[in-house]
Amino acid sequence: MSKPRLSVVVTRRLPDVVETRLSELFDVRLRDDDTPMSRAELGEAMRNADVLVPTLTDEIDNTLIGQAGDRLKLIANYGAGVDHIDVATARQRGILVSNTPGVLTDDTADMTLALILAVTRRIPEGLEIMRSGEWVGWAPTALLGVRVGGRRLGILGMGRIGQAVARRASAFGMQIHYHNRRRLRPETEEALQATYWESLDQMVARMDVISVNCPATPSTFHLMNARRLKLMKSEAVIVNTSRGDVIDENALTRMLRAGEIAGAGLDVYERGHDINPRLRELKNVVLLPHMGSATLEGRIEMGEKVIINIKTFNDGHRPPDQVVPSML
Ligand code: DGY
Repeated sequence: MSKPRLSVVVTRRLPDVVETRLSELFDVRLRDDDTPMSRAELGEAMRNADVLVPTLTDEIDNTLIGQAGDRLKLIANYGAGVDHIDVATARQRGILVSNTPGVLTDDTADMTLALILAVTRRIPEGLEIMRSGEWVGWAPTALLGVRVGGRRLGILGMGRIGQAVARRASAFGMQIHYHNRRRLRPETEEALQATYWESLDQMVARMDVISVNCPATPSTFHLMNARRLKLMKSEAVIVNTSRGDVIDENALTRMLRAGEIAGAGLDVYERGHDINPRLRELKNVVLLPHMGSATLEGRIEMGEKVIINIKTFNDGHRPPDQVVPSML
């Protein structure tokens, strides 16, 4: 007798091919519109499904996990970051958590470089002039930016994405520096021509560009706090394609307004899409709507990872991308 199909609830719209494949394989409930589920809807899904496929817009905290039904056995997150899921409580309840690492590395690293160039070369200001029709032609002193070649890039978090940023930035002639929980192996450092700083304070004080590429965990919360931001050179810029709460957004906003930091390129924010309104007023800031990994290819590959994690679990094995608390 064949096993009954797993009941899977997906909380957000996914690319068509991913939804089609999920429907072929599982007894799947898809989302009709592209809004996040309410807390009540999430709670209902977690009470009745075998597998939940959430995204970073779903806050899966200990209360929701505490109310999950006995049949919920896997939270197969559609995304790499799992800071919105209480992984420790899920583990205590015997619910596995998986994510989709690796497939968004290149896209996120590309976007990091795009932000570095957008800020240092003043691309949004150029766009604005063209849109307004106010361009009066080339001028030797117009819109002068800063050359990135030869400048020092300090990467905060040298995992997969940090290393992919390093490779790209090297091609632009930047000098690569990094701070990480663990120092890289000598051969990796050598290949990336990267200089390790044990002291984040010392690195921050000497860089021209800081790129935040570490995950959001309790130990990275406000790693770039007011005190550390103040260590940055006033000509330096900071970009963040990781998670907003690694930077104290209010302190950063104050310092950008005061000209104590030259610029910022942000794809993520401390309070989701509730952005400090003062940030939006600043010329030296480039803001993007969390689109670092937003390519069709990447989103489909994320879906494939979710499917592999669920299928492997259903076959009685550990999902290949299982996340356990000690990894965080
Ligand atoms: C993730 O997968 O965590 C990314 O932030 C989505 O862009």
